[in-house]
Amino acid sequence: MIAEDIAMKRLEGKSALITGSARGIGRAFAQAYIREGATVAIADINLQRAEQTAGELGPQAYAVAMDVTDQASIEAAIGAVVARAGKLDILINNAALFDLAPIVDITRDSYERLFSINVAGTLFTLQAAARQMIRQGHGGKIINMASQAGRRGEALVAVYCATKAAVISLTQSAGLNLIRQGINVNAIAPGVVDGEHWDGVDALFARHEGLAPGEKKKRVGDEVPYGRMGTAEDLTGMAIFLASKEADYVVAQTYNVDGGNWMN
Ligand SMILES: NC(=O)c1ccc[n+]([C@@H]2O[C@H](COP(=O)([O-])OP(=O)(O)OC[C@H]3O[C@@H](n4cnc5c(N)ncnc54)[C@H](O)[C@@H]3O)[C@@H](O)[C@H]2O)c1
Repeated sequence: MIAEDIAMKRLEGKSALITGSARGIGRAFAQAYIREGATVAIADINLQRAEQTAGELGPQAYAVAMDVTDQASIEAAIGAVVARAGKLDILINNAALFDLAPIVDITRDSYERLFSINVAGTLFTLQAAARQMIRQGHGGKIINMASQAGRRGEALVAVYCATKAAVISLTQSAGLNLIRQGINVNAIAPGVVDGEHWDGVDALFARHEGLAPGEKKKRVGDEVPYGRMGTAEDLTGMAIFLASKEADYVVAQTYNVDGGNWMN
């Protein structure tokens, strides 16, 4: 391979939409895609934060208001991407919500909120993106954010685990259904990733397990075979690969990027 090939950006000229990318893992994905030459819609329910993030990431990023639980908002967001970038090549279904409670305390409200964002949000955003990609006629890449939580149940995390198992299943069905149109649907299953999200998770565990603040984070980090919690940047290599031409023959898969926490 010559030096020019090595230096070539892997997502040059691509148009990407990343849900929930105002902060955390989605923000890191946006930054990585921009580095690889893509234009990225920072789509989030928190428009103010999305605008701030887009400003920080530079001219290849732009903010889009989007609530993945609202069909009109999903369609408006896809429309905004097409209006701005002329097309949609890559979608990352990244927006999600976490909650925990013992089985006997789970509320219908928590169940409905989590399924509405994590599962229906993923399915109907994927559907709208696929319709747009089919209209364009040259395929695309869709990446869903699953989790190690989708690989097995956890005593206090029944609903979130069930939503992420559903994301893995949707990835399989959509991957099989859309590949003949040149649309690759795959997923990433992270383990425990440090950031604002996990600060909230830590506080919930502290309340339910009687731990000191920060203790749950320390324990889950120590338990990772790699020796620490993940960072959002640890996931970007897989997100770039799955969005690139190199992943054309990768169909309906969910990849663990978790420091060795889970094997399957
Ligand atoms: N952090 C982890 O340890 C971890 C582990 C496994 C999987 N994941 C998954 O990775 C993804 C990103 O996680 P994160 O840690 O960056 O989360 P995060 O909570 O930091 O970010 C989620 C983003 O989604 C946005 N959002 C929430 N509801 C929305 C809606 N209805 N419409 C649009 N946007 C909405 C939020 O405003 C926020 O910016 C999620 O799917 C999560 O389940 C995270």
